Amino acid sequence: MITVHNLTHDYEGKGNASVKDVSFQIPEGTIFGFLGPSGAGKSTTQALMTGLLRIQQGQVLYDGTPIQKQHQDFYNQIGMSFEHPNLYGKLTGLENLTYFAGLFSGGTADPRALLDAVGLTDAAHKRTSAYSKGMKQRLVFARALVNNPRILFLDEPTSGLDPATAERIKQIIRDKRDEGCTVFLTTHNMQIADDLCDTVAFLYDGAIVAMDAPRNLKLQYGEKSLVVEYRQDPTRAAKSSGDQASGDQASGDQASGDQASGDQAEGSGREPSTDPSSHTPAVQREVLFPQNPADTRRVAELLGSGLIETMHSQEASLEQIFIKLTGRGLS
Ligand SMILES: Nc1ncnc2c1ncn2[C@@H]1O[C@H](COP(=O)(O)OP(=O)(O)OP(=O)(O)O)[C@@H](O)[C@H]1O
Ligand SMILES: [Mg+2]
Repeated sequence: MITVHNLTHDYEGKGNASVKDVSFQIPEGTIFGFLGPSGAGKSTTQALMTGLLRIQQGQVLYDGTPIQKQHQDFYNQIGMSFEHPNLYGKLTGLENLTYFAGLFSGGTADPRALLDAVGLTDAAHKRTSAYSKGMKQRLVFARALVNNPRILFLDEPTSGLDPATAERIKQIIRDKRDEGCTVFLTTHNMQIADDLCDTVAFLYDGAIVAMDAPRNLKLQYGEKSLVVEYRQDPTRAAKSSGDQASGDQASGDQASGDQASGDQAEGSGREPSTDPSSHTPAVQREVLFPQNPADTRRVAELLGSGLIETMHSQEASLEQIFIKLTGRGLS
């Protein structure tokens, strides 16, 4: 169990703390996602938890023992990947991993197997100065696994990776968790957090604003919506096209209406919309919120019209909930 207790950190000591009274616990064998926009204090928290930054205020405990009292062996048990890949550019990928493995006193993983797992077999003998950003990222991730860590700290492990490679990395993280590894993962990416994490904490301006399982956050803060696609009533369509002074005007309104419906999960306006990706102008799309009586009436009206093509319920995303709680997005 990792316990972080009232952690506060002020780099310059001028009363503008980058981490403010942050507390959480991470049970063994779980993935904890630390989410927040740039500058929220994620990497600072990771640095405090791993002893890279000296703790000013608060505590970080591993199975009840403060990090300051951990023995050197502690570092044999943790794996870390940093947001900025720090590799030896003159060494190949394989040499980097082999060198790093030599720094640990316990058993280590086979560097070739790790390269294979992250899809770098073909680049094993290439100097890392010639690696692309994503390749460096994967090598840093593989390096975090080299000492078969019991605890993994991963700072943006999938940023800049193509979807297939990101999926591969995500699966390795899940496998590690299933083997009993405890994972602290920092990211801007809500989808990754949703896919991977047992618990997520939203960090905003150095402080935790919400923390729970993704599902519970959605149940607590997210508003479910119904997405209804329906054929336009031909008689009304003809009338409305006659009514419109300009077709462009109509499509412009519909596009912005769609934006508004995206906002509805955060509780703002409720306007019908047309899916701009749809090439069939006669098909309309509306996002409706069953909690809203007017929307409930609209659902009944649409059901009665017999024009519905598809209808499905949609959960709020973690990103929408983050915006609802903080008033801003993650990028
Ligand atoms: N070495 C430092 N000296 C002074 N201030 C720092 C230092 N490192 C970070 N900060 C400040 O602390 C705050 C939190 O930074 P941190 O790197 O922890 O954010 P982050 O959430 O990891 O952001 P990102 O998503 O961009 O990586 C920022 O305001 C940053 O400017
Ligand atoms: Mg960071």
